[in-house]
Amino acid sequence: MVYQATYDETEAAEIIAEHEALEGPLLPILHGIQARFGHVPEAAVRQIAAALNLTRAEVHGVVTFYHDFHKEPRGRHILKVCRAEACQAAGSDGIADAIEKALGIGFGETTPDGQVTLEAVYCLGLCAAAPSAMLDRRIVGRLSEAKVGALVEEARL
Ligand code: FES
Repeated sequence: MVYQATYDETEAAEIIAEHEALEGPLLPILHGIQARFGHVPEAAVRQIAAALNLTRAEVHGVVTFYHDFHKEPRGRHILKVCRAEACQAAGSDGIADAIEKALGIGFGETTPDGQVTLEAVYCLGLCAAAPSAMLDRRIVGRLSEAKVGALVEEARL
């Protein structure tokens, strides 16, 4: 389950104030904002840039460079499907297609009800049990097209 909260400038200002005296405060502030709100919206980019005397482009560049930061709210559940070589060799492309079809969304998208975000990952360290996926923090190995229905159903709960 991913925590999402409505962005609040006062709370964001507290997070910024907690970290702005640090050397290199930008990353700790971004992590704090994401931990609190579940994503780093444009309003946060503006607020952080003003507080740290940076341009919005500079803050935006850092947000987009690190894949762990998200500009949009994500779903309550995150389903990550491994698209790297070992999983591909074990048939992950067909599984990925079946998951997209079952959820009705593509990779990088969130279901309209906000329940599931589908993301690609490139190796979960579980190549021996390929094809692999991860639902929130639970690793799922030896995935097959037959198991996709149950996995998607679980993600929608
Ligand atoms: S390549 Fe998929 S888990 Fe390593």
